Amino acid sequence: MPITWNASTREFRLGNGSVSYVLTVLEDGSLGTLHFGAPLHGMGARGAKPAGGAFHGFSNRLDEPVALECPTPGSGDYRAPALVVEHADGSSVLQFAYRAHRISPGKPPIPGLPATYAEAGDGAETLEVELVDARSATEATLLYSVFREFPVVVRSMRIRNAGKEALRIRCVMSASVDLPDDDWLLLTLSGAWGRERHVQVRPLRPGRQSVASVRGASGHEHNPFLALTRSHITETSGEAIGVSLVYSGNFLAEAEVGLYRTTRLRIGLNPEGFCWTLAPGEELATPEAVLAYTSDGLGTLSDAYHRLYRTRLARGVWRDRPRPVLLNNWEGTYFAFDEARLIAMAEAASSLGIELFVLDDGWFGRRDSDDSSLGDWIVDRRKLPNGIDGLARRVEELGLRFGLWIEPEMVSKRSELFEQHPDWAIGIPGRERTEGRNQYVLDMGRPEVVEHLYDALSQLLASAPISYVKWDMNRSITEPYSLALPPERQGEFFHRYMLGVYDLYRRLTTAFPEVLFESCAGGGGRFDPGMLAFAPQTWTSDDTDAVERLRIQWGTSLCYPPSSMAAHVSAVPNHQTGRITPLSTRAAVAFFGVLGYELDPTALSPEDAREIVAQVVLYKEHRELFQGGRFLRLRSPLDGDRNETAWMVVSADRRHGAVGYYRILNPPNPGPRLLRLRGLEPDQTYRVSVWPDGDNAIARANAGQRRGDELMAVGLAVDARGTSLAERGDFSASVFLLDADDEMT
Ligand code: GLA
Repeated sequence: MPITWNASTREFRLGNGSVSYVLTVLEDGSLGTLHFGAPLHGMGARGAKPAGGAFHGFSNRLDEPVALECPTPGSGDYRAPALVVEHADGSSVLQFAYRAHRISPGKPPIPGLPATYAEAGDGAETLEVELVDARSATEATLLYSVFREFPVVVRSMRIRNAGKEALRIRCVMSASVDLPDDDWLLLTLSGAWGRERHVQVRPLRPGRQSVASVRGASGHEHNPFLALTRSHITETSGEAIGVSLVYSGNFLAEAEVGLYRTTRLRIGLNPEGFCWTLAPGEELATPEAVLAYTSDGLGTLSDAYHRLYRTRLARGVWRDRPRPVLLNNWEGTYFAFDEARLIAMAEAASSLGIELFVLDDGWFGRRDSDDSSLGDWIVDRRKLPNGIDGLARRVEELGLRFGLWIEPEMVSKRSELFEQHPDWAIGIPGRERTEGRNQYVLDMGRPEVVEHLYDALSQLLASAPISYVKWDMNRSITEPYSLALPPERQGEFFHRYMLGVYDLYRRLTTAFPEVLFESCAGGGGRFDPGMLAFAPQTWTSDDTDAVERLRIQWGTSLCYPPSSMAAHVSAVPNHQTGRITPLSTRAAVAFFGVLGYELDPTALSPEDAREIVAQVVLYKEHRELFQGGRFLRLRSPLDGDRNETAWMVVSADRRHGAVGYYRILNPPNPGPRLLRLRGLEPDQTYRVSVWPDGDNAIARANAGQRRGDELMAVGLAVDARGTSLAERGDFSASVFLLDADDEMT
């Protein structure tokens, strides 16, 4: 039983052999934390209660270092609260006391919000603990779910106003966890457009340290994920706690070190600008937070998120299907295309072995540049005289599937939609709207806007054989205000926006279950678990430079699996950095994700075309490994002289693996360099082959039979010694393929 209740000690014990969470009903009735982290065995035994009384006790005494599950302000706990309400009289104090609990099999959905789910056989259980503030009749239900196979506890909260007067919620976290010490490093994934999710690490200090978004999307700047790690953490050893939010809008993720050097970790909707009114009888559910624990290093933490998000967050037919290799026309043409050019590109793509042709921005309204037509999802017959249907059918005749770009949440000032419904664009009456990329954002919190978009987009999707949709979102929100909300409810704006986006996603993915959705926001500006619940893959970054992608994909892999990371090979000089890298290196980076090409295939030299054919063959042959294998980080692009990166994927049965090794600058006079692998079967013999193949020094040094223990204890030879001048050079990469070879020679 993953969840038990001991009525005599008033303790809840949640766990599964990899993680434990122990809660207790304190003497004043509030819900306290006894432990979150390492598994405690002998579940249910009173003797397992952690020693040392300092970290539990009575709540609501001045500055006492009590650990609470739902801390509230104004009663002596001066750390950041999990819940702040404003009662009708303007006061904010809540004195929560335990009222009831329920333990049930499985995991209930959260109304209106994306969430992880349990399937039969998962051994999942959910605990709901009801707390009530008697004076105001405010009820908080805390939800905890545990799966048998994952070292995670999934938390969320529901607030209900059972009183007679309206209540205003000013802050409501999905999870707040008190940890007994502050000896942690804080790891976040931060950056900007073109350099998303770079790993940042800093020691915890007294006070609050946080990452957040107020942009209306989770954003390029910070990801709704953080990890606390012990200072000696490696990929394979050391304690770490991760917290990730299944949400795509304004979030806050924070660690606070208090005066007794304890740490409070909280994550949820960003309280900045947030205020939600609950009328009597109304309820608000938070997004869910996924807390993970390991003592086996960052690799194990990532493993838990990868498996959970690939198999119990992503859903629908594309969850387990191999994803197609695509060609996207964006960098190949930008807005300058017509039907003939696209068909020529699709023909060339087909001869390269590509499976899906994606038409990006510019096919609708009169969109010849980024300053018009968003909102008018009607084909531009000047460019495509046979419509989307005509083009898609032609593409299908060439043996490819057809996919289309949309940006539903936006409207251009120069568009029919804006002329007809100027009030649907977010803005404050009497004030200028700020334009971003020449466009405005639609008020997705208004049901009529979602209804209109559903009608327009479902007609579009039904009108042609469209197998894939890239759903973009290219600007942050400014002048947040909804004409549909009264002044006192404007604090609900951002969350209502997200609820509208999720509603549209849910309706479209339900109506078109065979369509593969990919989410995007100016590259990776909304790469988060909320989106992954609807779109199992995300455009990782607009930056397709192979060198930049190493850091981006490395950081992204802390929380997200390769099956979620769309990775494209583009032309050189690279459009974002101007860098010229070998075609094989660009592919060697993009292989470790969902492979695509983003270039004009009609402009390729015969050699490049031949090379791409071989790349696509290789990727298809190992596609399930690249997309669904266990991903292990081997050598960090952030360590040492930052010149090397290496990672690998291993199949579930450990019989197949692929290793990517990348060297940015070629060092003179290199010494021997070995790369030790992980995750293999020690006793298994593997046949090692090297890509790109041919007679090169790396292939000569490594190809052949090697045992798993040798590959893990000694490693592959990755130095450039013995390479010919032609093989030397900057930005080099090798992919090593490992296949179980049961015939010993
Ligand atoms: C965003 C996306 C790109 C492309 C353009 C089209 O920047 O990230 O991939 O779709 O929009 O305008």
